[in-house]
Amino acid sequence: MSARILDGKAIAARLRARLAERIATLTYKPGLVVVRVGDDPASGVYVRNKDKAAKDAGFDSRTIHLPAETTQQALLAQIAALNVDPSVDGILVQLPLPAQIDAQAAINAVDPAKDVDGFHPINAGRLASGQPGLVPCTPRGVMHLLAESGAPTRGVRAVVLGRSQIVGRPMAQLLLAADCTVTIAHSRTADLAAECARADILVAAVGRPEMVRGDWVKPGAVVLDVGINRLADGRLVGDVAYAECAERAAAITPVPGGVGPMTIACLLENTLDAALARRG
Ligand code: GUN
Repeated sequence: MSARILDGKAIAARLRARLAERIATLTYKPGLVVVRVGDDPASGVYVRNKDKAAKDAGFDSRTIHLPAETTQQALLAQIAALNVDPSVDGILVQLPLPAQIDAQAAINAVDPAKDVDGFHPINAGRLASGQPGLVPCTPRGVMHLLAESGAPTRGVRAVVLGRSQIVGRPMAQLLLAADCTVTIAHSRTADLAAECARADILVAAVGRPEMVRGDWVKPGAVVLDVGINRLADGRLVGDVAYAECAERAAAITPVPGGVGPMTIACLLENTLDAALARRG
């Protein structure tokens, strides 16, 4: 079998175009503010990409760039000001933050109604208890790709590799809400290969280059690769050994051009959701 490639770049472009059409019908531009602290170069690229995608889709997007030596108190004050600014529908504090700042404190300071990252414990709790709320962007993007694959979710086995707050845990909650039988596997799991080999849907989000080998994949599975790893030779690879796994999977996401582009599109989707919920 040779897998169908889930083209995240194209699927994200269609999603952004649908969002732009909806925004064009509004009497206001939904507002997104990305707060970046310090000069992490990768963050610089991500933040510019988010800002451009948001502007292109018709959002009122701006970036607040604070110096690397910003204190926690100053960052919390900035977030508090954005929380009460009526023109701001979505606030995203770009991670990682410099060492002097407690990232969880920054996340907790964002108004849950404006938490377009879906990282606030209120939104995490809503997701875990099956209530509507803002959902983290990457898992939301993976669910879109899964829907595009056409594969059923009800009653099938889904394995999520990775238990991070940003991807693994919310991913498992979304798959559970879609009626999958969900396993979260991680670095301490006894036999990762055997757990993965049972998966009809396999989501890899561990940050280890090409860890998932071809023989870990159940024939006919859908494989969704959240990893983005830069190798010493400069190549960008996922957490999945793509060529081997594509031989066995029914559908698979490439890296780059799979899950990555969906994350930004879902940030915009979350921002529109937050604007509609706040402004009616
Ligand atoms: N850094 C890398 N990915 C993300 C993300 O999805 N949200 C935030 N806030 N920071 C990130």
